[in-house]
Amino acid sequence: MFLPSPWRQFFPGILALAEQQQVWLDSAATAQKPHVMIDTLTQYYQHAVANVHRAQHQPGERATRAFEDARSSISKWLQASEDDQVIFTKGTTEGINLLSQALAHHLQAGDEILISAYEHHANLLPWQQLALSRGVKLKILAMDSDGHVDIDAAIAQLSARSKILAISALSNVIGHQQALEPLLQAARAMGIYTVIDGAQAAVHQRPNLQQLDCDFYVCSAHKLYGPDGVGILFTRERAVTALRHWQFGGEMVRDCDYQHAEFLPAPLGFEPGTPSTANIVAFAATLDWLHSLDSAAIARHEAALHTAVLAGLQQRGMQIIGTPNCALVSFNAPGVHHADLALLLGEQGIAVRAGHHCAMPLLKSLGLAGALRVSLAMYNDGDDIQRFFSALDQALEILQ
Ligand SMILES: Cc1ncc(COP(=O)(O)O)c(C=O)c1O
Repeated sequence: MFLPSPWRQFFPGILALAEQQQVWLDSAATAQKPHVMIDTLTQYYQHAVANVHRAQHQPGERATRAFEDARSSISKWLQASEDDQVIFTKGTTEGINLLSQALAHHLQAGDEILISAYEHHANLLPWQQLALSRGVKLKILAMDSDGHVDIDAAIAQLSARSKILAISALSNVIGHQQALEPLLQAARAMGIYTVIDGAQAAVHQRPNLQQLDCDFYVCSAHKLYGPDGVGILFTRERAVTALRHWQFGGEMVRDCDYQHAEFLPAPLGFEPGTPSTANIVAFAATLDWLHSLDSAAIARHEAALHTAVLAGLQQRGMQIIGTPNCALVSFNAPGVHHADLALLLGEQGIAVRAGHHCAMPLLKSLGLAGALRVSLAMYNDGDDIQRFFSALDQALEILQ
């Protein structure tokens, strides 16, 4: 299968894995890192360490400038407007936990939070626990037989009691991108806060947050070829004042005495404590590098890999979950336990994910104990796919 990746050479982790005869098809869990990210981290730790927003000395000023420049360039990458805010978090999970606590004061018993049926636990459990603690109803949006949100039915589910709508732009199990705009617009017209989980989507399509009509957008750097432990919470200007401060500590305070404090607005008011400066600066460098590449060529390459994976699985009679159209495919082999298959693939050097994919309610609703997932990134190539299928054929010969 001739599908070379011109970007593979920039990822030392992928080259090292290849030397160990390992094929990385688990980028939806976390992506391998480009040189630019690793070099920026090294540069920061060798030449630029200082705490930010705290010191008058030159190293502190330089670090603060680098940190705030990173915020600006990440905001540009998100195509956010200048009035909107980018708050740094530890990742998508923390971003959604922040929102679930910072918006809690808007909810009263009898109100509703809406999520889709395919949400990752990160976009389910914070809302579920908030709902339980406040006597609020967690409503699950209708899904059609292909595993897509039924947009008309979802709009019909919105009501005057609905307060928050939180939905993923790309499910980590179903891998189907769909237009959420009509739902977001309907929610906005009813004064419902809208949250988009972009953990999976952001790496395959650069977000345009001036166009996407949500109040909040969250994603994780590590799935975007960036470092671990950093995430983005984008907040629209119109919604940011709805947030109540949720964690407390250094550098978030305007004024403080023993019994009382006044806090800074976003972003600093929502970033107490020492931030992950090195990682944030390295993340911005990674996004700048990504932006310098031919995004249309990357999208074409990923689509060609995806088509090849789908076709190969269909030819072999695998049971595919939903109708994936982007970057990943989840499947089961008839009559074979997913864990057995994953074990045999792993023994042959194929790294795919197997299990419930942190979306247990979805798998239960499909009557599945688990599934395997192949997920793709710009550095995968035709050889990776070929090696996956030869390993799959060998495993199936043993198991079926
Ligand atoms: C759709 C989706 N949302 C949220 C998350 C959680 O992301 P993180 O673990 O980076 O916080 C994931 C992780 O796989 C995901 O796939």
